Amino acid sequence: MKSLKSCFQDAKKNKFAIGQFNFSAPEQLEAIVLAGKKTNTPVILGTSQGEARFFGLEKAVILRNYYRKIFPNIYLNLDHGMDIDFIKKAIDLGYDCVHFDGGHLSLEQNIKQAKEIVQYAHKRKALVEGEIKAIKGGSVVHEGMLHLSSLGYESVSQAEEFVEATNIDSLAINIGNVHGVFKNPIKLNINLLKELNQDVNCFLVLHGGSGTNTSDLKEAIKNGIVKININTELRIAWKQALRKELKKKTIKPYEVYPKVIEAVQKKVEEKIKLFK
Ligand code: 13P
Repeated sequence: MKSLKSCFQDAKKNKFAIGQFNFSAPEQLEAIVLAGKKTNTPVILGTSQGEARFFGLEKAVILRNYYRKIFPNIYLNLDHGMDIDFIKKAIDLGYDCVHFDGGHLSLEQNIKQAKEIVQYAHKRKALVEGEIKAIKGGSVVHEGMLHLSSLGYESVSQAEEFVEATNIDSLAINIGNVHGVFKNPIKLNINLLKELNQDVNCFLVLHGGSGTNTSDLKEAIKNGIVKININTELRIAWKQALRKELKKKTIKPYEVYPKVIEAVQKKVEEKIKLFK
């Protein structure tokens, strides 16, 4: 099994991105692993704090270990962790990476807490992702249009300062990306990404991959993004397939779920191909 760090190094060198696919149901998890295996591509299994609290941190680790027998290059990331004790618990249980979302804190507080988590994680061989300005939206289908004026963009000098002070492994950046799907496609500020890629000394990651212009995603990968998070589009694929299967007469879960798994797997494979 490759380490997650070596996957990121490989992605940076060869200009591709690793997909982080979030899950909160076992069928989604299975679909993500099967897509990774079928395409022989490392995949990150993401659980936000809410998803992890529902699914169970320990259960996620046990299932990751089980699925590593089927496909070894799968990695667990605690996405948008805000509670330091919960983040430490994920690390103790064996998560490969944790995302400390300090976007709601002052820069000073964010640096202080991120530093503490980085020291804790690195001693236990886990990676840490940081965030300076909270990334907007939520992983749902939003009713209206996204207005660019509602977004906050990354400050290059602040990002440099944050990375230097914390020794963080990766940074979730704000370049016009937002969580969820809107009526209009999301456009990225590639010029800002180019500056960040040149000046900020860590891996750069992109949240809010759903509903983003695909040519912008490709440009982002060319310009240093090594990880892209996808959640909303998988939730949509899961729900549409489940709704369709539940209309059938059967009451047998083993007749309902295969098509649901297949639909989510197809969506993950589509993203993996795009990220290459
Ligand atoms: P989307 O829901 O827009 O795919 O974003 C997912 C994400 O960034 C999780 O952190």
